[in-house]
Amino acid sequence: MELKITVLSDNFSSTVIPPLLGEWGFSALVEYQGVKVLFDVGNSGIPVLHNASLLGLDLTQVDYVVLSHGHRDHTGGLGNPKLLKKLRGKMVIAHPGVFERKLLNWSGKLQDISIPLTREEMEKEFSLVLTKSPLEFVDGLVFSGEVKRFGFPQYTGGLFRIDGGVTQDNMEDDASLYIKTGQGAVAVTGCGHAGVLNIVRDLKEKVKPEEIQAVLGGFHLLSSPREHVEEVFSSLLKESKRIGPAHCSGNLVKSLAQNQKVFVDMGVGKTFKLT
Ligand SMILES: [Fe+2]
Ligand SMILES: [Fe+2]
Repeated sequence: MELKITVLSDNFSSTVIPPLLGEWGFSALVEYQGVKVLFDVGNSGIPVLHNASLLGLDLTQVDYVVLSHGHRDHTGGLGNPKLLKKLRGKMVIAHPGVFERKLLNWSGKLQDISIPLTREEMEKEFSLVLTKSPLEFVDGLVFSGEVKRFGFPQYTGGLFRIDGGVTQDNMEDDASLYIKTGQGAVAVTGCGHAGVLNIVRDLKEKVKPEEIQAVLGGFHLLSSPREHVEEVFSSLLKESKRIGPAHCSGNLVKSLAQNQKVFVDMGVGKTFKLT
């Protein structure tokens, strides 16, 4: 098996057996030619632990942890002592902005949604690699670094950070995982705050694939108007053979994709495989 991606945390869960858990968040285990990468760790760590155990996936065998960005629904699992124990000592790769204090306007109130550990705490627990530049940490596995903005819409509404005062957060820390395969490139996104079309263009620039096999993960289209979602989806259709909207992609793009043979179900416990 060249590539297997298993969703361990997502807000869509539709399996009957085994009885898996969902939550607002995202995490996926990427297995690529014998290397195991945990991409994000979910919100609480509880579904990641529970689902990995029921799916027979041993998280102590993970080689790398990649964090897509600082938001708690992708990094909160690091605050779960049981998950931390399984991941302790591993290499964690992220953009340096992952430690910014992040805020979300939630029902008119600013809530802290930062990563649960400080940089100093993370340095004690892990081998930490922070980079804004793309990093091919294993042959064929590329951490995007900072996603270049090409003018396609990005999704940062309602998001703030503390930098002296409270300022609009442009989510420079939003990174993706690009995977080179014999069947084209695969992009795995966290929230996709950089904008999924910017991410696709960034992937093309950094990886120069002959084709794009799949774009999987959060596209953050959950609060975009219908026309916009339809436009982004039809552009994506031209770019990628398979499309797997997860997490904050929103129901509309999920249902648009479901009606096409490109659809990849990225709910909890689902897998994407290339042989
Ligand atoms: Fe998210
Ligand atoms: Fe996010």
